[in-house]
Amino acid sequence: MNAKWLVLLVVALFAMVPAAMAAEKRCKAQGVKVECPTQTKEALEKAAENYDKEAMDMLKGRAGSTYGITGFDYLTGVGKRSSGSKAGAATLEKGDSGYSKGTGKTEMWERYDKMKKAQAFTGDSAYNLWTNSWSPSFKTSLVPGANPNEGKQWFYVYCVGCHGWLLHGDGPTAIRLDPYPRNLTAGAEYMNKKTNVELFTVIKGGGAAVELSDAMPAWGNLIQDQDIWNVIAWIRANADTKKPANLEEYLNPKSSFDPKSSANAVTPLNAAKSAEFNEAQEMLEAMLAGRGGDELKGGGYVDGGLRRTPEEEAKRMK
Ligand code: HEC
Repeated sequence: MNAKWLVLLVVALFAMVPAAMAAEKRCKAQGVKVECPTQTKEALEKAAENYDKEAMDMLKGRAGSTYGITGFDYLTGVGKRSSGSKAGAATLEKGDSGYSKGTGKTEMWERYDKMKKAQAFTGDSAYNLWTNSWSPSFKTSLVPGANPNEGKQWFYVYCVGCHGWLLHGDGPTAIRLDPYPRNLTAGAEYMNKKTNVELFTVIKGGGAAVELSDAMPAWGNLIQDQDIWNVIAWIRANADTKKPANLEEYLNPKSSFDPKSSANAVTPLNAAKSAEFNEAQEMLEAMLAGRGGDELKGGGYVDGGLRRTPEEEAKRMK
């Protein structure tokens, strides 16, 4: 074998090793190997393509339900392209998105416009109205002391691009990631086997904190602890949810996550007393250049802004 081939062989071997290791590492929950529910390459290519189409439509001023710009109600499909002419009658059509025929605007767009005019919303309150008008406000929380309605807002700011509108791991950038993000709604199959502390750790410290891929960024310097808990409550609320049959189900999607399971033992209300949680916090705070330092707030609540304590969040959800 000449030197050139040897070099090529060595390069090829090295290129294979990290990929194989990543696959081995990533599909574990509580140390146990589990199914790894990710989208196929084809599905992700299609999702990215759809997004590009929507973005082009947006540029042409034809509204559209483009990521991060215009929301649609993922449960009812309101705001998605309608084949009917009646505003509000829009139904979700697979691979289809945008605006109601003829008007060049989404039903959502019109609804938002009306609400805005009537109530003169501006700035943050306009944005909150916008994000809140396209998915339900949950009436209960599966994580005591955390609020899924607050978590939802963060998810659609920071996570949607990779994890997708429906948390299916099919955001427009998912196709560029290796490994692909998994389906965060795959409860029975995967997510329900993860403990709350495990989810807290991976969100705050990123994939690197839990031996997953560092394609999953660390959010601890951007999102405060209570809001990380809120995002966890949102993810839990979405475990194995199906399309709702009625309004009641719409406002409270039936999640397969069992709040009494051991995975839910640590919550923001009791985290300060959990050795497992405090150990994770020590590691995370050190990793994130010492935010909090030796004044760790074990429960994960950081004062400031409009943030509420776990107790306040628990009260609000009642
Ligand atoms: C840049 C793309 C990207 C963004 C943005 C992103 N993630 Fe991820 N996330 C990933 C990837 C990739 C994985 C899979 C990592 C692996 O399996 O090795 C992942 C995995 C996860 C997991 C599963 C971890 C596990 O234990 O199996 C959770 C939960 C998660 N992300 C939550 C979030 C939340 C919450 C946000 C927003 C605050 C977010 N992610 C933003 C790419 C991203």
